[in-house]
Parts: sequence; C-alpha cells; structure tokens
Amino acid sequence: MCGIIGHAGKGENIVPKCLQKLEYRGYDSAGIAALNSSGIEVSKGVGTVDEAVEAPQGSAAIGHTRWATHGGVTQTNAHPHTDPDGRVAVVHNGIIDNHSDLREEVGEGRFESETDTEVIPHLLAQHLKEGLDPRAAAEEVTDRLEGSYAAVALLEGGQMVAFKQGAPLAVARNQDEHFFSSDVVPLLEHVNEAAFLQDGDIAILDSDLRVFNQGREVERDSQEIQWEGGSATRGDFDHFTRKEIGEQPETIKRATFQDEESLTEAAGMLEKARTVWITGCGTSSYAADHMRDYLAPEVDARSIQSHELEYRTDEVGDDDAVVAVSQSGETKDLLAALEGIEAPVLSFLNVAQSSLERRSDHTIHINAGPEVGVASTKAYTAQLTAMKTVAAELKDQEQVLESLRSTAEKAERLVKASESLAEKLHGALKGEDAYFVGRYQRFHSAKEASLKLKELSYIHSEAFPAGEFKHGTLALVEEGTPVVGFVDEETADETLSNLEEASSRGAEIIGVGPKDRDVYDLHVPIPEDPNREMLEVIPFQMLALKTALDRGNDPDRPRNLAKSVTVK
Ligand code: M6R
Repeated sequence: MCGIIGHAGKGENIVPKCLQKLEYRGYDSAGIAALNSSGIEVSKGVGTVDEAVEAPQGSAAIGHTRWATHGGVTQTNAHPHTDPDGRVAVVHNGIIDNHSDLREEVGEGRFESETDTEVIPHLLAQHLKEGLDPRAAAEEVTDRLEGSYAAVALLEGGQMVAFKQGAPLAVARNQDEHFFSSDVVPLLEHVNEAAFLQDGDIAILDSDLRVFNQGREVERDSQEIQWEGGSATRGDFDHFTRKEIGEQPETIKRATFQDEESLTEAAGMLEKARTVWITGCGTSSYAADHMRDYLAPEVDARSIQSHELEYRTDEVGDDDAVVAVSQSGETKDLLAALEGIEAPVLSFLNVAQSSLERRSDHTIHINAGPEVGVASTKAYTAQLTAMKTVAAELKDQEQVLESLRSTAEKAERLVKASESLAEKLHGALKGEDAYFVGRYQRFHSAKEASLKLKELSYIHSEAFPAGEFKHGTLALVEEGTPVVGFVDEETADETLSNLEEASSRGAEIIGVGPKDRDVYDLHVPIPEDPNREMLEVIPFQMLALKTALDRGNDPDRPRNLAKSVTVK
C-alpha cells in the first residue's frame, strides 16, 4: 500500500515514470517533490500520477502514490509532505501509530494535512535546525516513531535520507543514478540488481549511498533482479489483467520447474512437522486451502487466514511448520502472524527478496513474473502448481509433474475459449448479487471465482459450501438470482441436489465442470483434468475482466484496493 520512489542523478522524468509502475500499490493520489535551483518544489493531487502531478524537474526527486489510511483522499493529504519552511519533503509507506502524540508535541496548529506522515518532515526539520547532520537527525526521528514505515526524505541541501521499519524499501544504483523504491518493478529498466534495506536501517544518499544500523555502517548486498526489463510492461495488451490471464499456460509450466534440492528441503520440512499451518490472505489463502488438501492425509495440515492465525500463534508448536503463501511477500497480516511463531517457515512466493523471503527458513519461488493487475490471476495458478509440485515430492508422485505440464496445455485452450465463455457468463450474471458454491476442493475454487468477480466488477458476490445454502442463504434466492456451482464427480450428487433446491426457487444455475447436467441453465465446460483447480477459475478471471470493462471500471486498479496490503 502506497508506493514510494527516490531518484538522484541523470535522467529526465524518471520519478513520474517509476511512480506509474508503482501505481498498483495505491492509486488514489500521487505527488512528487524535486530539488531545483529555487529549492524543493512539490506537485501533488488526487488521481493517478498522470492526472495528479505536473512533474517538477530536479537533480534529486521523491515520489509517492497513495492508498489512504489516515486522512481522506485530498490534495492536502497526498504526499510528499513538507515541514512548514519547505526544507524537508517526505514520502512514506506504512502507519505511524503514535502520530497523535507526536503531533501534539510539535503543535497541532503547525500541520496542514490529516495524515500520520506529516510528523516526519516536521521532526526531521526540527532536528536539522538544531544543527544535527542528516544521519543524526534521522536517528532522533526514528527513535520516536512507532509503527511501520519506509520513508524517503529529500533535504534542501540535496541529500536524501531513507529509513525503514516493517515496510519494504529497495536501494539500487547504476553508473549515473541512485534509486530508492518500494519494490523492484520500477527499477527493471534501470538496474540489474538491488538490495533491500533491513529494519532499523538509515540510508544517507549524498555523493554516495551509506547505510547505518544502530549507529554502525553496514553493507546491504545487492542481488540480481530475476525479472526481465520488459516483463512489467503491458505490451500490446489493453490491460495488465488480460495479459496476466493469458500468461497462465506459460506460468503454470514455469512453476513446475523447481530445483530438486529445494524441493527436497521443502518436502522434508513438511514431512517432519507435527502439524503444518498453511496461511495467507485473500487469493493466497484460497491457494492455502488447496494445499491443505494436497498434503492430506499424509500430513496433518490446517489452512488458516493470517489475520486469524495471529490470535492462535500460541497453538503453533516449535515442532510444527508454517507454510506462508504470498504473491508479494509484503502482506502485513501475514508478516504479523509470523512474528509470534518459532516454528520453521516455508514460503511460496512470487516477489523475490521480499520481507517474507527474509523471514522464511526456505522459499519456493512460484516464478510467475511480475503481477501488476491488482486481482491475482497468474500468481494464484502458479501458487497451486508449485504447491502441488512440493506435495508430489513429499508423496513420491512422479507422474504429477507430467500431469501439471499437460494441464498447462489445456489452460492455453481454455484461455482462448474463455473470451466467449465470459461473454455468456456476463449475460447470465445480470443482477447485483451472485452466489458461488461448491463442496470440498470445489469450494476453494468457488471462493476464488467469487473474489475475482467482486473485486473487479463490484457486484456483490458470496461463496460458501454448497451444503450451507439451505441453512440460510437460500432465503436470498429470487427469480433469476445467479448461482454458480462448481461440480466434480466426487461431490456431484450432493452439490447437484443443492443446485436443484436453488433452481426450484427461481435461481439461474451456472454449472462449472466437465459434464453438462439437467439442472444447469448455462454450462461452463472445464476439461477433465487431475489439476482442475488450475483451470476452472480461468473463465471467471475473464468474466471479472469483461464485467469490469463493461461497467467502466479499471480492471487493473479496482477501487479501494491495492496490490500489496502492507497495513493491518
Ligand atoms: O501478496 P499476497 O498474495 O500476500 O496478497 C494477498 C491478498 O491481498 C491478495 O491475494 C488479494 O486478495 C488479491 N487482490 C486477490 O485478487
């Protein structure tokens, strides 16, 4: 949530361009501060970078794209924030928990915005005025801040000061430029490697970059960025979401390519655990639900969303293992849950070098490449594939790899067919409510399909186990209410009865599975496949995209959401 960028050196318009690549982290307002001959110039406003910012030029600049937490979406609340004299400008990602106390200390009347962030430039400027150098001033400020932050300050003297606690901040350089960035996506076209600051680090960029932690200078090793320069661009596609849906045949295949030693280590961690707790949020939590079923019955596994696990960490024993599932590796709810846990952590991750990778004992990279659309598509199916690959290693099921690669081929055909399937589905999902049901593994897929629809189309949609229908939600069914049922052979009898019960009350039944059934008003055919869970969501990803476009929504940037949820 919120993307921040800092740049010093040659190159024109670098900050606005980089900032656009961070918009998926927050896009309700944006701003840039640049240092030029007349001092620090700030331009900020409500909307996207293009809409909100008249890019000021300078040898050093910082930028921000916002997902509001404290204070409404207004120009005044947009970052960068400055001290009253305009000598220090700051961009910040995170939440300063004790901002009210700090505001009171500084003097309420001196603030312009309602944000928690504004205390940072005020405090920094105060200490600089007292004569402290930038590093000492930053140390004083960070001593006072409670909460989470990645912040970059641009000082009137030309230096930049960055500090971080709990939120990500990468640093990188090439021959002519230095960068700070919330993640590596904006850097892909500028550098080949980047380092991530660690909690407590204070980085000072003057003629060169130096990093300090607890008063001592430290080295933060750069690592090669695995993603290619063009991989985070839209190419000829109208939207990232469409591009990413279409990449799945390739990304499913790629997720099966895992280093043998790494697989053995992952399987070993799960095998020796007393209980395996699998955790994530949103889409990643539905992948976690599937993984539980991949591991059972050999492994005692539980799937639990991270914000709920946080209340149960005392139930996780040291001889258990935790599987942490995340596309971004920066989800605060997940990282917070892990804080209270001693058990070894195995993560399934897309973004390398993220906070989760640093917190993990071992990581399986799902290799999906940058996922820019806020709705997770290719990362989800790649998570499932990597998880199934690890489960197959644990269970000695060599044939699974082969089957996953053949699923990737079927995905290719299904992606193509999904355009017309989505058209038909769109016709059927006319109202403002939709219900998604399934039993056992099909229920996990129902949840993911429902989430896709609601986050991109803003249609109210609920998913629940098909057996629950008659225990309450059936009361909401009226003539024409769309009910989507995920049906497989194992659960067909019961799920079809539940669909009959809804149909006889007027529901329009959309059946998802290999066979057409009498009760269906519309059939979404899914090929027979042992890895069906990777296929059956694809038509619904496409439906969500289509519905969003039809309603004039931006499918890449759904309202109120952000790609990396770095607050609780
Ligand atoms: O980066 P993560 O996988 O940890 O993110 C978890 C959720 O925030 C994420 O899956 C969210 O639900 C997506 N917008 C779903 O499309």
